[in-house]
Amino acid sequence: MIVPLFLALSIVTLPLAVHGRQTTVIPKSNFIPLHPAVPSSSLQLTLVLPPTNIDGLHAALYDVSDPKSPNYGKHLSKAEVEAFVAPKPDSVKAVTDWLTQHNIHAQVASPSGDMLRINIPVSEANDLLEANFTEFKDQNTGLTLTRTLSVSIPDEVAPHLQYIYPTTQFIVPLKPHNPAFEVVTPPPKMKTKRQGVDICAIDVVPQCLEDYYHFPSAPATATDNSIGVSAYLNEIATEDDLDIFFLAWRPDVTTTPEFNVVSVDGGVTSGVGTGEASLDIQYTVGVATGVPTTLYSVGDAGGQGFIDLVNFLLGLDELPLVLSTSYGFNESDFFGAEDFANTFCNAYAQLGARGTSVFFCSGDNGVYSFSFDSACDATTFGPTFPSTCPFLTSVGATTGFNGPEVVANFSGGGFSNIFSRPDYQSTVVSGYLDALGSTNAGLFNRTGRAFPDVSAQGVNYVTRINGTFWLSDGTSASTPVWASVVALLNDARLNAGKAPLGFINPLLYSQGAAALNDVTNGSNAGCGKQGFPAMEGWDPATGLGSPDYDKLLALVIGL
Ligand SMILES: *[C@@H]1O[C@H](CO)[C@@H](O)[C@H](O)[C@H]1NC(C)=O
Ligand SMILES: *[C@@H]1O[C@H](CO)[C@@H](O)[C@H](O)[C@H]1NC(C)=O
Ligand SMILES: *[C@@H]1O[C@H](CO)[C@@H](O)[C@H](O)[C@H]1NC(C)=O
Ligand SMILES: *[C@@H]1O[C@H](CO)[C@@H](O)[C@H](O)[C@H]1NC(C)=O
Ligand SMILES: *[C@@H]1O[C@H](CO)[C@@H](O)[C@H](O)[C@H]1NC(C)=O
Ligand SMILES: *[C@@H]1O[C@H](CO)[C@@H](O)[C@H](O)[C@H]1NC(C)=O
Repeated sequence: MIVPLFLALSIVTLPLAVHGRQTTVIPKSNFIPLHPAVPSSSLQLTLVLPPTNIDGLHAALYDVSDPKSPNYGKHLSKAEVEAFVAPKPDSVKAVTDWLTQHNIHAQVASPSGDMLRINIPVSEANDLLEANFTEFKDQNTGLTLTRTLSVSIPDEVAPHLQYIYPTTQFIVPLKPHNPAFEVVTPPPKMKTKRQGVDICAIDVVPQCLEDYYHFPSAPATATDNSIGVSAYLNEIATEDDLDIFFLAWRPDVTTTPEFNVVSVDGGVTSGVGTGEASLDIQYTVGVATGVPTTLYSVGDAGGQGFIDLVNFLLGLDELPLVLSTSYGFNESDFFGAEDFANTFCNAYAQLGARGTSVFFCSGDNGVYSFSFDSACDATTFGPTFPSTCPFLTSVGATTGFNGPEVVANFSGGGFSNIFSRPDYQSTVVSGYLDALGSTNAGLFNRTGRAFPDVSAQGVNYVTRINGTFWLSDGTSASTPVWASVVALLNDARLNAGKAPLGFINPLLYSQGAAALNDVTNGSNAGCGKQGFPAMEGWDPATGLGSPDYDKLLALVIGL
């Protein structure tokens, strides 16, 4: 009886129906199939074609970002970046011929042409890709995703098409979260700096950061400077809240603080001020005062929105010189979708090559994931993404104004399971791992890209949200502060006729540590685990440390 049964099983598992390159995925157990997707409903799919020379892009990025290189600061033009990432003409032809055979018309969805976009009904997508698009429910969040467990690309097209999104990738869109947790009675208006220092232990306002990190109080002046702040999830900041924030905490500034709002993917451009966007804008305009600031409000809170924002920016002739993002994903969402993670990471490499410094928050659950909200059943630490991409700067959090800062215990940090360690950090990370010994052995990946790169104060930020002062904690707070530091340094560089700083990790890891405050006390917790202890030098709780503006200024003006 056993033999025929075995034979029958073998027959059904033969790949009879499959032609071409098949991609299959087994999603995490929290995704439950509900029912087949409605055949007539429309799917928007992005087809990602292989870049002509991605290694060339990475080499060019390091060449213009390494202070020892003769090409330091000679950032690439739009056309030079596009030449690296554009698909080969053969690929464009193979993919468009295939679509044309199916009467499908694609639109170019990225400046370099490496992404094409199609809108087709589910029934057609099922035929085209030998797929079975299904509604899946994420039991953790209640959200539903239309995905398929397998897609198949014909042999003649497969070498010309990296992947199609969203098909087999189970990446949950960002979840609404509000970093503000407590309404506060505003502390008495500060009249002198001395008084300011006294309140910083309880309520952090821009003057606390100015004093502690030696930021300049005079507004920036270079007119060709710029900083961008991304917003997702219908987050928005208002001029009203910003004006009152300035009246209270930047009484020294006489001009009206301003920012622009640009909508991407139909993001909101007005409305009642919300927590994250208000925090990000107030501590960008409040620290990088005088630097032209734009809030990029992105309507899509999934992976697509992150890519669409970068494509929007790459299409501009003049990019923001700094981009700050206080949102992110669990890196584990990208298991099985590593090629999609690479697309993100290469998008940030393109921004860096063009001279934009890209900052991401490292996460607020210590060694364990983003937005951790359920009983901890993890057997390993959970890094966050995009922080684990090596081509951007990840920012952790510290606390304490009376004496040296200590780790804010929620500060995200750790080691990637997808991206290997870049050369620029290999020495300091090896040193840390040697000193760490067997602590946390087996809980993290010793070969991965380590994060965060740097850190700054992240506790008790006073923020004005819809007419009320709140206190906010998080790497959401430290990230716009670091981004603003670099915007101020760019101001000095631009005024001295020098190039903006662009991708700063090679500089920070080679020469920057001496210009930072090393944080050596505390550890990041999470998941009932102790996390990583801060130590002398780099550590996966606070990176290389927090900014000392005077020293950083001397460093970057000397380059
Ligand atoms: C397609 O997926 C549904 C679940 O949504 C499943 O019931 C059905 O058997 C699948 N069809 C095929 C042909 O695999
Ligand atoms: C990240 O993973 C944790 C643990 O599984 C989960 O609680 C949290 O909701 C996830 N966060 C996001 C943004 O998906
Ligand atoms: C982190 O620090 C806060 C404030 O000091 C404390 O209440 C909390 O218990 C700490 N969390 C962990 C996991 O140690
Ligand atoms: C560890 O990280 C490397 C990248 O550095 C990756 O290739 C490998 O798969 C990871 N190992 C595990 C067990 O996740
Ligand atoms: C904003 O503030 C106004 C005035 O206090 C209040 O009526 C409104 O409910 C608030 N909106 C939100 C979304 O909190
Ligand atoms: C570490 O910081 C704590 C405050 O969080 C302080 O009480 C302690 O003395 C510090 N330890 C050292 C060695 O500086």
